[in-house]
Amino acid sequence: MMETHIYKVSKDISESEYGYIKKAAEVIRSGGLVAFPTETVYGLGGDALNPESSRRIYAAKGRPSDNPLIVHISDFDEIYPLVCEVPDAARILAEKFWPGPLTMIFKKSSAVPYETTGGLDTVAIRLPDSRPALALIKEAGVPIAAPSANRSGKPSPTTAEHVAEDLAGRIDIILDGGAVRIGIESTIIDLTGEVPVILRPGYVNQEMLNEILGSVERDPAIDRKTEGDIKPKAPGMMYRHYAPEGELTIVEGEDKAAADKINELLRLYDEDEVGVIASIENKDRYNYGTVVCLGSADDKDAVAHNLYAALRKMDECKIKHIFIESFSNEGLGDAIMNRIKKAAGHRILKV
Ligand code: TXA
Ligand code: MG
Repeated sequence: MMETHIYKVSKDISESEYGYIKKAAEVIRSGGLVAFPTETVYGLGGDALNPESSRRIYAAKGRPSDNPLIVHISDFDEIYPLVCEVPDAARILAEKFWPGPLTMIFKKSSAVPYETTGGLDTVAIRLPDSRPALALIKEAGVPIAAPSANRSGKPSPTTAEHVAEDLAGRIDIILDGGAVRIGIESTIIDLTGEVPVILRPGYVNQEMLNEILGSVERDPAIDRKTEGDIKPKAPGMMYRHYAPEGELTIVEGEDKAAADKINELLRLYDEDEVGVIASIENKDRYNYGTVVCLGSADDKDAVAHNLYAALRKMDECKIKHIFIESFSNEGLGDAIMNRIKKAAGHRILKV
């Protein structure tokens, strides 16, 4: 076990806070690991060009090393040494969505070690919309490889406390920038083929991408239930993910009918071992077990923002059987339902 230092860094970054960023940048440059806030979720950062740093990231997370890391940059031009070519689509997307919650896949240059790309000839790159993150990358002077800063399989961390729960004693520094803005991971789009393909849905949704690029496809593996036939192009989408320790079941149906069903299911168990993750519209219908509210079903930003904290809350309360309401697939709902379905292992009950 090592000592993990936690430093608070606000969005405006005061002078003393900038000192912490410099310290963290030095740790990155010397091969150490720093967790930092982005607008999506917290990342676990290391020098993307140092194979030893990437190995340490996998070890700290307990993550299979064939699951590639996203490389974070602080300025568009930092992309050039990392890739073979920059397609026009990338420039157009960057213009519109960077800094922001969009990750693009390119053919990698020889500067990026295979340890960082999980053995692939492609590299995922993102320019995050977070001042502490951008300052850290700039000060480090190297691109920063960063997966979500959770132990492998757990929900991604949306606060520094979540990071500490999972990684304290395993990494050098946690930069605490408070709760993140969005709460679910970036959209991933593959630009290495003829047609751009979405590999992971996120805040930047398919409609927004279609509008800019004409037409984009969606990796069919995203919506697949089992790990059989088609392999997802984003290896990380293959693993059990975002999951709480308890068994999570989605109950899908009209508001009242779904709530009635959940109430019936809750009572099959002891009150201290069941829980519901509910919308504000429904939460008062439940009066048994632990109830965690995500916000209004019509406010997708709130639902995305609160989802992972809700899953972690259930673990904290040691809930064995968790029921969650279903949300519409529209807009950000696509990414929300993708994460909920993965967390539930696609256990869905229709009423
Ligand atoms: O919002 C985010 O993207 C956060 C923050 C920290 O930036 N990062 C994040 O990283 O979610 P991670 O490692 O938890 O998820 C990265 C996903 C994995 O599913 C991985 O398989 C996929 O990106 N990926 C990375 N490089 C890839 C590549 N070259 N080709 C295909 N998929 C790739
Ligand atoms: Mg992750």
